[in-house]
Amino acid sequence: MSHYQFDLYLGGDTLKERINQLKEEKLLPLYTATDLSLLKDAEEVLIKNNLNFIEVTYRSGLASEAIKYLADSGKLIVGAGTVRNIQTAKNAIAHGARFIVTPGLCEEVLAFCQNENILCIPGAVTPSEILLSMQYGVRTIKFFPANIYGGLRAIQALKEPFFDINFIPTGGINDQNMCEYLADEAVTAVGGSFIISENDLIKNGKAYSTKKLERIVEKIN
Ligand code: 3PG
Repeated sequence: MSHYQFDLYLGGDTLKERINQLKEEKLLPLYTATDLSLLKDAEEVLIKNNLNFIEVTYRSGLASEAIKYLADSGKLIVGAGTVRNIQTAKNAIAHGARFIVTPGLCEEVLAFCQNENILCIPGAVTPSEILLSMQYGVRTIKFFPANIYGGLRAIQALKEPFFDINFIPTGGINDQNMCEYLADEAVTAVGGSFIISENDLIKNGKAYSTKKLERIVEKIN
């Protein structure tokens, strides 16, 4: 049975549309902001490459401010990553985050997002974690860290019983292995810092980052 016959997410139409759009774009950029002045460049690099999502991670003290900047600017669909508790989820949403990504399964965050009708993509790597997240309406999970938890082979084993679950592998995904993952129908998109990073913007500049992403986009389409 094809994965395509199932909804990618249970819940309101907006949630389904959002995840369907992610499936079209195939890339979920993960961005850690330590310098807010680079956000404009990051935004432009993504827009130039027709990518509309950005996941700003709570791995720096500037995450909320970065989310607010990007949300106010209105060019991208901004989400929050590395959300590890309900307080961070609330904070992220208050600053304009439109989706939440958690590195592992956090039931209080899932329950909160389900209640608020906010898309939540929880980290889940075991059958039990996937089953538990399904109880909260989840149909798309983050498979993290993908390279450590068995990579594509693990996803291919998990998709048998979880024929109605879609996977977003992150962790160790790069421009060399992304196509293998994306070739599997159970993979909605791949995520990671290889798509765009502050480091690249600082070291190599906006033009380089744009070109690099252009090559990634070309490769997956
Ligand atoms: C994540 O949280 O998804 C990962 O840290 C991303 O991993 P990467 O930096 O290897 O892309």
